[in-house]
Amino acid sequence: MRVLAISGSVRQGSYNAALLRAAADCMTDVEFVVWRGLADLPAYDEDVESSAVPPAVAALRQEIGGADAVLIATPEYNGSVPGALKNALDWVSRPFPANVLRQKRVAVVGASVGLFGAIGAQAELRKVLKVIGADVLAAGLAVPSAQTAFTENGRLRDRKVEGALCEVVRDLLRPPMERAA
Ligand code: FNR
Repeated sequence: MRVLAISGSVRQGSYNAALLRAAADCMTDVEFVVWRGLADLPAYDEDVESSAVPPAVAALRQEIGGADAVLIATPEYNGSVPGALKNALDWVSRPFPANVLRQKRVAVVGASVGLFGAIGAQAELRKVLKVIGADVLAAGLAVPSAQTAFTENGRLRDRKVEGALCEVVRDLLRPPMERAA
């Protein structure tokens, strides 16, 4: 089983990147790959897409295509998904409908320094992923006050939050026949 992890933040010291590292600790016997190419993607351009796909885009499509599941941790920027992450998803959505995210199992979690844990961005991200055709988990995790949520070692301080994150991961990894209809 291979899980591709994507942080919607390119910031050094990102709490969403920390959330992905915490999620990795919930997994055993899983190949967990963190994709770090967000800042390398050009702005989506339909003209470019129809002539030559940029190498960074091709690499992302290949990573997603080769993954059994995708875990995205997103911050919230101005009540929504960070532009860089939305841009990546716009690239990946093409060709439509036969894109690499189609029917791909995807879970969304998020952390923010605000009181709501990027819940608005997560909802918008789920909506976008569904439009693209992904198999998006309804359950997510909101980590508010992210500046105090992690220990110096990058662990989640609150065991309940850690447990909830592992529950999302378990759901993401659940075989199709064990999922509720
Ligand atoms: C933010 N932040 C933010 N937080 C929030 O809860 N709701 C919001 O609408 C916004 N808007 C927003 C816009 C912009 C441009 C920035 C830079 C930040 C704060 C954000 O949650 C905080 O910076 C997080 O720490 C970002 O996540 P990473 O980089 O730590 O993963």
